[in-house]
Formats: sequence, structure tokens, C-alpha cells
Amino acid sequence: MKIGMFDSGIGGINVLKEVMKKYPNQEYIYFGDTIHLPYGNKTKEQLMEFGTNIIRFFEEQQVDMIVIACGTCSGMVEEYQEKTDIPIYDIITPTVNYVKKNYRSVSLLATATTIEKGVFEKKLSNHGVQVYPLACPHFVPYLEGLNDQKLDMNRELQSLENKCYEAVILGCTHYPLLQKEIEQCLHVVSVDPGVCLADSIELKSESHFSLTIYMSELTSVLQSNVERILGYKVELIEKRLDYMITK
Ligand code: DGL
Repeated sequence: MKIGMFDSGIGGINVLKEVMKKYPNQEYIYFGDTIHLPYGNKTKEQLMEFGTNIIRFFEEQQVDMIVIACGTCSGMVEEYQEKTDIPIYDIITPTVNYVKKNYRSVSLLATATTIEKGVFEKKLSNHGVQVYPLACPHFVPYLEGLNDQKLDMNRELQSLENKCYEAVILGCTHYPLLQKEIEQCLHVVSVDPGVCLADSIELKSESHFSLTIYMSELTSVLQSNVERILGYKVELIEKRLDYMITK
């Protein structure tokens, strides 16, 4: 099968890695929309436009399925699905399904847009799960090398200090890159959406392995960041989508 995955940048590589672990013999195409990074402070209209452009690109590449490897865009999976006949999978649905089976209370770290929309919270509270949400706007710029300010994890997560919960959801696909620091700071286990998604999908047909990674803008740190996550060398391709309108 040909599988298209997208995110704003390197976050979705965490999801890709988990899916490749379970399904090594598939053809993967990854698109990181780094020119529009971060997605976490964008409007719904902008995210619809970016995502729709990427879906168009995946249609041209004739993928069989699309994975929204981004928490922020996952909240709009129904709207994206209206734009194409290719089946689209999001990372929120499998994460919610896993959490509701295993926990009664969780904290949720995600981008400002995801927290404002309250998608995780609405779905989980329907199942009696107590959610303590927290937007972490400094994490993605830090992880993508957009600023060189160090993260003070205790300060970033301070508002969760007096809350009581069993696990923390890493509700943005970039955050597994800070998994150790987050778990150490909060003293709970974390839930990784990439793992939840990989566990939830069943792919019938196998083919040969291939991986092509496109980024809408290449930066000097991007190549090494991707290789660090995947654990091997891979050549990134810069790809501006013709129909990209908004900067
Ligand atoms: N990794 C994405 C997410 O899961 C986007 C983060 C961003 O670009 O702000 O939300």
C-alpha cells in the first residue's frame, strides 16, 4: 500500500516511525509543511487550506490512505475527508479509544489550537474521563530549532502541579520527542498518539518498503533532526506545493 502522512514538520515522523515498525513493507510518503510551521497557532481556515493542498498532492501521488500525523489537524478529520475519497486516519480517535479503556483521569499536553478546540476533552468526557488540558506553545518552536531558548520543563508544566491524574497524553505529535523530560517532571506515564494509531490500524496487503520525505521548506537542522528520530540517513526533498497560497 502507498501511505501518505503529513504534519507541520518533524512531529509526524514519530507517527511514521511507529507505523513503519508495525508495517515495514509498505510505501511511505511523508509531507512536512515546514514553511507554515507551527500549525499550533493557525486558524481553522488556514489549516483547512494547508491540509487540502497536501491531500491534493497525495492524490497526485496516488496514495491508498492518508494519515494526519498531526494532533492539531486531526480535530478536523471529517472536514478533510469531505475533500477526498482516499480514506483518512487521524491520531486523536485511536488515542481517545486507548485512553478511555485504560484511564479515568489524564492530563493533556497539546498545541494552543488543539486545546482551544477541546476535541480530546469532549470525546473523553463523554466516557467519564477527567481531563486536565494544558497548551504548550514553546515546545514545537524549540524542537524544530526555531529558537535557541532552553525549555524549563518545570515552569512549562507548572499549572498541572496540584492536579491528580494517572497519565499524560502527548496530544501533539512533536511531544514524544520530550517524552522522558515530561514523564520525569510529571511522574506519570505518557500516552503516545503514534503508538495508539499504529496499534489501531490493520493493513491487509503488503508491498515493498520505500520512504520519501518531502518538506515544504528545508532548514539546516531539519535533516539531522529527522535522521535522529528515524535512526538512519535519509535524503529530504524540498517540495513547494504549487497551489500553496498563504505564507
Ligand atoms: N505536530 C503537530 C501537532 O500534533 C503540529 C504542531 C505545530 O506545528 O504547532 O499538533
